[in-house]
Amino acid sequence: MVTKLKDNVYWVGVVDWGLRHFHGHELSTHRGSTYNDYLIVDEKTVLVDTVWGPFADELLANIAAVVDPASIDIVVASHAESDHSGSLPAVMRECPEATVVVSKRGEESIEGHYHQPWNFQPVGTGDSIAIGENELVFVEAPMLHWPDSMFTYLKGQAILMPNDAFGQHYATAFRFNDQVDQAELYEEALKYYANILTPFSKLVTKKIDEVLALELPVDIIAPSHGVIWRDDPLQIVTQYQQWAKQEPEPRAVILFDTMWNGTRRMAEAIGDGLADAGVDHKILHAATTDRNDALVEVFRSKTIIIGSPTVNSGVLPTIAPILEDLRGLRFQNKQGAAFGSYGWSGQSVAVIEQRLAESKIPLVREGIRCKWQPRADDLEACRAFGRELGEATKNV
Ligand code: FEO
Repeated sequence: MVTKLKDNVYWVGVVDWGLRHFHGHELSTHRGSTYNDYLIVDEKTVLVDTVWGPFADELLANIAAVVDPASIDIVVASHAESDHSGSLPAVMRECPEATVVVSKRGEESIEGHYHQPWNFQPVGTGDSIAIGENELVFVEAPMLHWPDSMFTYLKGQAILMPNDAFGQHYATAFRFNDQVDQAELYEEALKYYANILTPFSKLVTKKIDEVLALELPVDIIAPSHGVIWRDDPLQIVTQYQQWAKQEPEPRAVILFDTMWNGTRRMAEAIGDGLADAGVDHKILHAATTDRNDALVEVFRSKTIIIGSPTVNSGVLPTIAPILEDLRGLRFQNKQGAAFGSYGWSGQSVAVIEQRLAESKIPLVREGIRCKWQPRADDLEACRAFGRELGEATKNV
């Protein structure tokens, strides 16, 4: 189904209601996603991005509802990940002479994916292409979120097409931000930011400052996933500026796994201590909690408390991915602590503390261990540990 954004500018993308995993199985997408691309019909016909390869026929049918796909003069390929470029070969079979506009890094990544001798035109920030009444203006956005990422601004219609930036994995019946459930929309926008853009937060701030300094009118922000921001479009830019500061809330998250419930009981006692201190928190069982949802709680929280019993001189394997994410996502302004039960050697707390140090998350205090199942005094010590962490969480 085609949706008109403005005169002669159309969404011709695809809603993927059934998508539950993205980037292979790396990212959960509980609410599906959309692959957005935009058709501009001027003296030249322009397609900005495509859709994931399995949906190429739907894309071509959507384009054909507006114009003959063979009439496309320019295809802008903003970024090489297959959710946006996967249908390029199908589109280019329809219009083989079209110019493929890419960022300077994009020429390498698009060619590297498809190995085709297309007519590439690399562009840099500030370059423009006149297409009739309107003009395409390009802004390179390296590491937002790949080195090849690029924004396209449609001058004349004041539409910013920033590819992945400002997107959400959110399948909806309607295309615009004012037509959907606002709580769901912001949940998905935050999950997208926390899981994909967190490590590039400094670049997010810099790029937004750079684009705002151009003082371009922006009527619509049309990302490549989720809804299109037409009602107060700069609201998502303001929200990104806030998220990019990585100023966590005075709350905590306890992430643990357990074998025979000793570490679980410690987790709950620590939670009681946080509550004593008046600190809101979540207690998440890593083995049964979606990792990407857990990372949203990590993003929001000042204090990250990780627990595992000792197994094979280390931590339970379910804890390892979270520790790897803490390192890779480079969260800022956090503090941490570790806990765990053990029976024999008891290394898990030291292993977690080592990984927190590698992630540049300072400890509030040394961790707490409990041998065998916690006794009443162990649980009281955990509660006191939680109170201390709670006080440290409030005092930031
Ligand atoms: Fe939506 Fe980076 O792909």
